[in-house]
Amino acid sequence: MKCIHIVGAGLAGLSAAITLASKGITCNLFSLQPSERAQSVLAEGGINGALDTMGEDDCTENHFADTLRGGVYLADPNAVDHLTKHAPEILRWLERLGVPFNRTETDIALRNFGGQKKKRTAYAQSSTGKIIMTAVIDEARKYEVKGLIRRFPHHEMIRLLTDGETCRGVRIRDTFTGKMRDYTGIVLLCTGGMNGVFPSMTTGTTQNSGDAAATAFAQGAAFSNLEMLQYHPTTIGISGKRCLVTEAARGEGGRLYIERGGEKWFFMEEKYQELGNLMPRDVVARTMFFVRRQEDCGDQVFLDMTGLPEETWQHKLSDLRMELMRYLGFDPKTNPIPVQEGIHYFMGGIDTDEDHRTNLTGLYAAGECTSQYHGANRLGGNSMLGALYGGRRAAETIAGGDIPDASETVAAKSETEPFAVPASPVLIRRISEILLSGLGIVRSEQDLLQALGKLHALAAEKAYLPRETARFQLAEAMLRSALERRESRGAHYREDYPETSEAYRKPTIAQVQHEQLTITFRTLPERRKSDADHT
Ligand code: FUM
Repeated sequence: MKCIHIVGAGLAGLSAAITLASKGITCNLFSLQPSERAQSVLAEGGINGALDTMGEDDCTENHFADTLRGGVYLADPNAVDHLTKHAPEILRWLERLGVPFNRTETDIALRNFGGQKKKRTAYAQSSTGKIIMTAVIDEARKYEVKGLIRRFPHHEMIRLLTDGETCRGVRIRDTFTGKMRDYTGIVLLCTGGMNGVFPSMTTGTTQNSGDAAATAFAQGAAFSNLEMLQYHPTTIGISGKRCLVTEAARGEGGRLYIERGGEKWFFMEEKYQELGNLMPRDVVARTMFFVRRQEDCGDQVFLDMTGLPEETWQHKLSDLRMELMRYLGFDPKTNPIPVQEGIHYFMGGIDTDEDHRTNLTGLYAAGECTSQYHGANRLGGNSMLGALYGGRRAAETIAGGDIPDASETVAAKSETEPFAVPASPVLIRRISEILLSGLGIVRSEQDLLQALGKLHALAAEKAYLPRETARFQLAEAMLRSALERRESRGAHYREDYPETSEAYRKPTIAQVQHEQLTITFRTLPERRKSDADHT
């Protein structure tokens, strides 16, 4: 029987499943949490597509150019070409599924988002992810009743079935019964970002623990741009982690300031006159970092939304207001809120080609766990798009190739499965603190080497479990990728190499082979001329 095994049931996994099912191909959709609790439901501000409904003469070529520029030319131009060209059609598909986007009198409304000069972000107030997921889950159910999509929530990937060159399947554990099964056939990883690697600093769900990424990495999957962590400029601290204050707050007119000489200094507006508060996230986060260091400035940046019109609060940001009132205990309509940078997205991830093939035959990847669309910095609003389009594209690649028969067998008992035991939460925190000491908003060789030294010392303390060793390998790859990139580009800012260097316009590739970790650089493809027919 033909059946594709998808790991991860957020937007990328669902999109892939729907695409495969619509072609009559069965798939298993395994996930630790049900789709209703995937990271995708936390996406707030919107999804990009050059629909040009706001009379601004926008086009998909502009979207392409902004995405590439925002990622400081480190993304795969052909992948970005496909992504941006198909974005309007993805938005129309969501509209047909019944997503209640905010609307103008006649069409989908679009809002401003960072790094883009045109209004291009479709939104449903500021709960866009939750609302899109509801519609996409419903669409998947249509295929579920036909038996084409088989959903397995509360199922965890234990490891790939691979010899380091070919992936023959995946070992999965039912987290309720503890039973493990081996599913052979093609595997598509849609496991999301590595939020759990930075539990105290992430805006994302720590249910995306980073285990799947670390395991795939330890088993030979190549990863690119692991040094590229996105710090979102506006987050607040809640219960020991970060909570996102959507970029839509600034898209709708929110302003960042810091106290300087007893006055409010709207530093983004002064420093970047064209895009101001809506510069790409790496620039905003870095500017916040540096103004806080100025001797004449306070040490807290505020987001001021007090000037937003009533209509905006009611129809575009009412859910953000409620959330902030609940968590901060005061009304952002009348009081500026203190904000700080938090890790929000992983531009780096499993290295794939533009069709979502990995270096392991039989293994594909899509969504935030991959790296081809966003380069050195992702534009807000391109994440859900990357997940929906990436899942679809990966499924099309799989459907267009030879699909081997799949099988399902009871696997070895957990006592004999080395990857069965979870990593210790204390160790995860210790590794995270070490990583944060090297991979801040501003980095240097000295800090990175110190962090590597601490990581090695921790690794030498005792014998670790396989999942813990995999985490060490992934952490080391992050630090060494940052060390090797001797330039500043997007989210990777080196104070010892502050310039962007054309010689480094290449993704870093991290890979474990025969227990050895290597970091190399790969040449980016040129954009193919035939693809340049954007509207
Ligand atoms: O700020 C936000 O609403 C985040 C959006 C995104 O990361 O795409």
